Amino acid sequence: MPDPLPADLPARFYVTTPIYYVNDVPHIGHAYTTVAGDVITRWRRLFGDEVHYLTGTDEHGLKVQRAAEARGVTPQEWADATSARFVDTWRELQIANDDFIRTTEPRHRAAVQAFLQRVYDNGYIVKGTYEGLYCVPCEAYYTDDDLVAGNCPIHDRPVDHVVEENYFFKLSEFGQRLLDHYEAHPEAMQPEGRRNEVIGFIKQGLRDFSMSRTSIDWGIPLPWDPDHVTYVWFDALFNYCTAVGYGSDPERFDRWWPVDYHLIGKDILRFHAIYWPAMLMAGGLEPPRCVFAHGWLLVGGEKMSKTKLNQIFPHDLIADFGVDGYRYHFMADQRFGPDGDFSYESMVARYNSDLANNFGNLANRVLNMAVNYCGGIVPDRRADGPLREQAADTFAAQADAFARLDFASGLAAVWDLIRATNSYIEDSAPWALHKAGDADATADVLGDCLEVLRIIALLTSPVIPNAAAELWRRLGLPGRPDDQRLPAASAWGGLPAGNVLDKGAPLFPRIEA
Ligand code: ME8
Ligand code: MG
Repeated sequence: MPDPLPADLPARFYVTTPIYYVNDVPHIGHAYTTVAGDVITRWRRLFGDEVHYLTGTDEHGLKVQRAAEARGVTPQEWADATSARFVDTWRELQIANDDFIRTTEPRHRAAVQAFLQRVYDNGYIVKGTYEGLYCVPCEAYYTDDDLVAGNCPIHDRPVDHVVEENYFFKLSEFGQRLLDHYEAHPEAMQPEGRRNEVIGFIKQGLRDFSMSRTSIDWGIPLPWDPDHVTYVWFDALFNYCTAVGYGSDPERFDRWWPVDYHLIGKDILRFHAIYWPAMLMAGGLEPPRCVFAHGWLLVGGEKMSKTKLNQIFPHDLIADFGVDGYRYHFMADQRFGPDGDFSYESMVARYNSDLANNFGNLANRVLNMAVNYCGGIVPDRRADGPLREQAADTFAAQADAFARLDFASGLAAVWDLIRATNSYIEDSAPWALHKAGDADATADVLGDCLEVLRIIALLTSPVIPNAAAELWRRLGLPGRPDDQRLPAASAWGGLPAGNVLDKGAPLFPRIEA
């Protein structure tokens, strides 16, 4: 296929997280998706892509209305307070999002109403009577077959029986189009196991779903019948379009839509992989290029929940591990796809081995030797030894893994290079070369090691931006790793001879358990 963009224009890349409910404060599960989105954003920016990274909060619906009532405040007051907690947490984690959308913003109400009218005019919304089961924590309708031992399959608690006259979205008309879509674009739903699940579900037959409520008022009124408010999921999903200008800035919308990645947890797979593309088709818009559903972070083998009191908050871990230690752990240790157990003990172990020992010690050792043996200046020599080829392979492996959102494998490749560099130092023993008075051989070895440090700073910068920038500075390099351009900047030989080095304090002090 020909490249659709002229080579001198940056590629555009639009990536989103779910917008999180404001009934809860941010925990490590929310942060997991948001950090992953940030890493892919920073990675693509290193390639010069124009990236739009969106996150935000989902503020309407019964669940939020009840959370507010329970505290004796208005839903808006409650949403304002909790949404701010998400903003603060993302700032603390140094998330480089371009926008933060709130579904109570006027821009969103206007966009949703414009879209609803369009879908209604296209004949895909009709009035009917709904009688069935509803889970408030899910904000989802269920059938008897969906329930597990009479309870919600996600929350394991009773569902409400509701009877209401409301409007229905004709999802049943989209089964074949969705199957055709996933057949023509298998990459549109990842990983593969989740795609099979989605396809199996579509093949069972899709039912129309109720997309308005009259029993609550905390929502966006339907433009043609304001006694009804929009079902919260119909409203929430559309945030992805609102944020890039649907209904207000058509040119901007065309530039960003369709979205490249919706990153989500598997709990909201059906909404994103079935409802959402069907809604978009009904409104004449293209479906997402890719929905990627990762697994759950488990604590003691269970999903975190407020009722189980097993929630862990990013702030508490950042206090112990720092922002970089936090970000590294979740990207390196929790595969992006399957469920994974979180434990504090393994976080300490991994921090000490990967960050304090491998990464931190390598930087320390190389800079110290270069200060002691080469006068603190990048030598005008390199061995161009085995690390040269390994560094090139590392970049290729990381790029391949990150393109599949396999952050753990991409980082494992970089850490292989780090370990290989430590071994190279052991094998070539620059201290012995120095002691023997062989200044050229010493400079050859350290020249290679310093070059590797530059490449490592660059390749790790999307994940551990602070340590990477500090290492960059210690190598006497101007600017920041983020300003560099891949793939060119990863090429061997980019560290200028004569740069003045700064050995500095340990980048990742060990943590005693
Ligand atoms: O579902 N492990 O919001 P939500 C991994 N408002 N990821 C987790 C997690 C865990 N234990 N817990 C939460 C909603 N997440 C809707 C979304 S989008 C149009 C509307 C992450 O606050 C994961 O991304 O319940 C999951 O899908 C999301 O938070 C659910 O957040
Ligand atoms: Mg949830």
